[in-house]
Amino acid sequence: MTARTPRSLGAIALMSLVTIGCARGCTSSRPPIHINPSMDDQPKVRPQTSNGFFFDGASMRVPVPGTVAIGGLKEDDAFFTGRTADGEYVATNPRTTDEAFVERGRQRYTIYCAPCHDARGDGKGILFQRGNVPTASFHQDKILQYTDGQLFDVITNGQGLMAGYRWPIPPADRWAIVAYVRTLQRDRQARAANAPAATQ
Ligand code: HEC
Repeated sequence: MTARTPRSLGAIALMSLVTIGCARGCTSSRPPIHINPSMDDQPKVRPQTSNGFFFDGASMRVPVPGTVAIGGLKEDDAFFTGRTADGEYVATNPRTTDEAFVERGRQRYTIYCAPCHDARGDGKGILFQRGNVPTASFHQDKILQYTDGQLFDVITNGQGLMAGYRWPIPPADRWAIVAYVRTLQRDRQARAANAPAATQ
């Protein structure tokens, strides 16, 4: 024991020097001392880099054709396209239109539709005010007679001068907007029906 003590003390001192050394407080251009590199450095490919292993020289591989992302299976035609399997527009909203859903629709409508169609759906928004662009009113007979699926289709694919909102608005929100447009229409009709005869 006596013989080993000085040596082990020396070893401890050396270890402390190596580990503490200048681990803190000094600057160095060399990489930090890495006592146990373990699995920090592994052979791997980084995204968007080239790689000689594959025939096309790219490190990133494309998914096998037909791969469906989790949650990305679009089996429900009515929900995703507004049409039934035989291509007819669905008559009613495939989602339950409760209060929260309509409220969501109001928010999305205010963001995406109100700038042009105005808050009440009369089509007197910015395009009309500034450029006199004819913007459809939701209270005209033609649109009142549209089925929910048809409204969904206009939002999804656009119509005439109006662009489609397939990408910015996810399907569930498009249906929420449909539900809100319906409440705008019903509201207007109810008011008209209840108004005193002279103001109708
Ligand atoms: C940038 C302006 C603009 C925005 C935003 C916009 N629209 Fe339109 N929309 C128009 C114009 C302009 C027309 C008339 C198109 C035409 O007749 O050529 C129209 C037409 C329509 C029509 C009638 C289509 C038809 O078959 O006659 C509906 C329904 C409609 N928009 C719904 C919406 C909804 C719902 C939103 C929100 C998701 C929306 N629009 C956002 C400009 C806009």
